Amino acid sequence: MKDWLLVLQGAVRAGRAAAPGVALWAFAASGAWAATASVPYVPTPQEVVERMLEIAKVTANDYVIDLGSGDGRIVVTAARKHKARGFGVDLNPERIDEANANARKAGVTDRVSFQQRDLFETDLSDATVITMYLLPRVNLELRPRLLDLKPGTRVVSHDFSMNDWKPDVHVKIEAKDKYGGAGGTSDIYFWIIPAKVGGIWRWQLPVSGKTVGYEIALSQTFQAIAGKAKVGVRTVALQSPKLSGDAISFSFTAEVNGTPVKHQFSGRVQGPAISGNVALSGSRIHAQLDWTAERTAAMSFEDRGSVLRHAAIR
Ligand SMILES: C[S@@+](CC[C@H](N)C(=O)[O-])C[C@H]1O[C@@H](n2cnc3c(N)ncnc32)[C@H](O)[C@@H]1O
Repeated sequence: MKDWLLVLQGAVRAGRAAAPGVALWAFAASGAWAATASVPYVPTPQEVVERMLEIAKVTANDYVIDLGSGDGRIVVTAARKHKARGFGVDLNPERIDEANANARKAGVTDRVSFQQRDLFETDLSDATVITMYLLPRVNLELRPRLLDLKPGTRVVSHDFSMNDWKPDVHVKIEAKDKYGGAGGTSDIYFWIIPAKVGGIWRWQLPVSGKTVGYEIALSQTFQAIAGKAKVGVRTVALQSPKLSGDAISFSFTAEVNGTPVKHQFSGRVQGPAISGNVALSGSRIHAQLDWTAERTAAMSFEDRGSVLRHAAIR
């Protein structure tokens, strides 16, 4: 557990303010927001903010939403340095005033805004990047909503992970400004929302003048995928299956028309369809073909394979 949580928990027990620069909602606040705030105010050090935005590769095309935006530094930096647009929400009206003042100072009020609102009641669907510095249990409460966002949406969390949803990137950096200048190590976790691909997919390809039917069974645990392909009566394991946002790729070698053919697929997932291309190579064939697959049975993240256990692919 991170140091500041221990500090804050100690302070709760001792009934005093936690550390210089730390506004603990349970003590510092009066007003309605204090009763419902789920996370205390501890600002992300500026150097960590900059690294978070770099890891998420924020650009002018992005819409960044900071959940629990404090003094607005993440969204303001995204707009000032990377020309992104976005907004922040915070329950504490003082934080919202500070954030608006910081946006004015940085000259970015045309691209960012801050609203006093509960992050759990905030529409996240416009986000291309979500940033957060919350708490482990709050991250977990948010997790199902994040996983329902558009595939490819990026999520960056300061210090707290998502439990068994492994990050795509995890870095640790020393931040001298952490905890009001006391210094400390910051963890940065980064995820790309994966498309939902678990289930059975089917397609056909014209190979050497014949129509060949294909079926794959994909199991999915967040962005990790695995599976098998059935070509004719044979079943083979998928090699190097990879899913990043809506981009999927895998390969396998299967016998087609009596000779082994290597198949390398790559495509984009759009709901119940994948479209892309396949490279075929074998002793009698070298070809690049368009590829379109249709999902015939879906599997949710929680399903953990029951669709596949009942599938034709064994
Ligand atoms: C640890 S601070 C992070 C501030 C800022 N994101 C940063 O990284 O510098 C968490 C912020 O979340 C706000 N907060 C806590 N619970 C919230 C909720 N349910 N909805 C909106 N904001 C909340 C707190 O008021 C606090 O400003």
